[in-house]
Amino acid sequence: MKGPTEKGGKQALTFAVTLLTGLLALWSCSDFGDKVLRSPNDSLTWQSDIWPLLEDRCLSCHSGATPNGDFDIVNFDAWIHATSSSGNPYVVAGKPDSSELVWRLEGSNGLQRMPATGAPLPSETIELVRNWISQGAAKDSGNP
Ligand code: HEC
Repeated sequence: MKGPTEKGGKQALTFAVTLLTGLLALWSCSDFGDKVLRSPNDSLTWQSDIWPLLEDRCLSCHSGATPNGDFDIVNFDAWIHATSSSGNPYVVAGKPDSSELVWRLEGSNGLQRMPATGAPLPSETIELVRNWISQGAAKDSGNP
């Protein structure tokens, strides 16, 4: 049976599809460029996700000719598989609880909390560092 009813149905369907497409576009836009608020399941990398959150608070003491604690945080390749002056690995890939970098941010295991001055880092930032280590502590490919 053809007639005005079927035509109206088609219009309604077209409208619904347009509305859905619009909503989808809005949803993907709101996600766009959202670098800081990552979900725990996103794959995190040092250069893109972690370093931008630490940089402001670590660089002044942990770079240059005489970095504090002999820890030059900019030289990722030099420390990522190395041991701190307290004898702990800075990072054990897959194991945030065994990584001094995490202990330092939390002020746990009897070590001085970092940053040594100012407020502690927000717990969300520490959580991201933990997630990054749990995922294998990757650096972005293609970076020095
Ligand atoms: C105001 C200066 C200052 C800032 C800012 C600072 N640190 Fe430190 N950091 C120190 C000093 C001093 C030491 C050495 C004393 C010690 O071991 O506690 C140290 C030691 C460390 C060590 C151990 C190095 C080793 O091999 O023993 C780590 C890891 C560390 N800091 C991480 C960080 C991180 C990550 C940040 C940023 C979130 C940070 N620090 C910010 C002063 C600072």
